[in-house]
Amino acid sequence: MDFKAALNGFQPETALVLGSGLGGVVDAVEVESRTAFSDIDGFPVSKVSGHSAEVIAGTLAGHKVVVFSGRVHYYEEGDPAAMRAPLAALKDAGVNRLILTNSAGSTNPDMGPGSIMQIKDHINFSGTNPLFGEPTDKRFVGLTTAYDKRLRKTFRRHAKALNIDLHRGVYMWFSGPSFETPAEIKMARKMGADAVGMSTVPEVILARFFDMEVAAFSIITNYAAGMTGAELSHTETKDVAPQGGEKIARLLNAALKDGL
Ligand code: HPA
Repeated sequence: MDFKAALNGFQPETALVLGSGLGGVVDAVEVESRTAFSDIDGFPVSKVSGHSAEVIAGTLAGHKVVVFSGRVHYYEEGDPAAMRAPLAALKDAGVNRLILTNSAGSTNPDMGPGSIMQIKDHINFSGTNPLFGEPTDKRFVGLTTAYDKRLRKTFRRHAKALNIDLHRGVYMWFSGPSFETPAEIKMARKMGADAVGMSTVPEVILARFFDMEVAAFSIITNYAAGMTGAELSHTETKDVAPQGGEKIARLLNAALKDGL
């Protein structure tokens, strides 16, 4: 079926792309429809453990949302535009606001596992771009204000009211799927990164290409490579993500209830 058929006449105002640890948000949605990515024309299918890709349309804190529970990553097939079809479908369905979450490693000693970070800017260190091959002049997307200022302010206000410690920082996109080396993390810190991860940046670039408002958050699941001497693992990412996920869930709830 196509994406609009999956929505079945429902008109969401905001789209949420949820990484691991945000199962609680999905559970809180009053569901109108629930469709597997694999049942929607053109949607990619993720096989990463802990990332079941589904589209859930419904109401969350009184706000009409469509949730992408899970996403497809660049590292799966080497396609930076893996999420282009879902984001194009959102735009086509009249959804103009995108909120993304991910799991990330911290390069900042003051931001430990279980923390959450509002992304204020990013560094694309992957060497690739989801707009490679786009033939129109629209490909020259400005990213000076990629992370919407008004939304950033709104979320900070709610974090303060809820007494949630919301860090702010720069997210650096590495291709993955191997984790970074200690030398790469030293470099990332020098370059101004606060967190490193394997997602989100291609979706942000695509969302700006489609002229959507963007907000994004990282759940810090670990200190980045070499900062503690411990080896990194996907199991750790999955185990720690719910700690930060719970904070993001409360933050989202308050902001959505207030109309964003
Ligand atoms: N690096 C990259 N991606 C990640 C990390 C990390 O340390 N932690 C969770 N996702």
